Amino acid sequence: MRVDLYEKIWMWGVAVMLSLFFTSTAIAALRDSRHPPSHVETIDPTRVMADARFRAPGVSVDVTGRVQARIVGMTFAWLPAEITVPAETPVTFRVTSMDVVHGFEIVRTDGQTMVLPGYVSQFTTTFDAGEYLITCNEYCGIGHHTMAAKLHVVPRAQWHGQGATLSPAVPHTAGGGDDHDHI
Ligand code: CUA
Repeated sequence: MRVDLYEKIWMWGVAVMLSLFFTSTAIAALRDSRHPPSHVETIDPTRVMADARFRAPGVSVDVTGRVQARIVGMTFAWLPAEITVPAETPVTFRVTSMDVVHGFEIVRTDGQTMVLPGYVSQFTTTFDAGEYLITCNEYCGIGHHTMAAKLHVVPRAQWHGQGATLSPAVPHTAGGGDDHDHI
């Protein structure tokens, strides 16, 4: 079969692009531990605030010392608009939406997930002390650009999480806030 030179060039171009995309995806997943959300848990999006899991948005510590942050997304805000968590401590974020698709992103960290109405997105990550901006990275309407919140990460000794005993400190992980975003 005779293949025209131009066609060959385009075929090779596509092959190069595909391998670049595949390589960058593999690097992001294996080196930077960036993964798509894999936590499948459903919730009635019309009754989020009445649901026991999100009745009290914010940060708490369970009996085993694990820190959990519950966040509700809506047009056009994150609830609560400010949270404080301890540094060098795994924090499990549980995020859901009351209306449309939003993108929960803690800027310059690996803390990021798509937020879909009807589902609870969940991920766990660790931060260095500092202040971080939380944005919405999924276009959700006219006020999309105003959808922001603040994450304060304070040293463990300064964090008073309802007098709870924290789980052991862990060295902060790759991508988990190596660059502080001061806002
Ligand atoms: Cu929420 Cu964009």
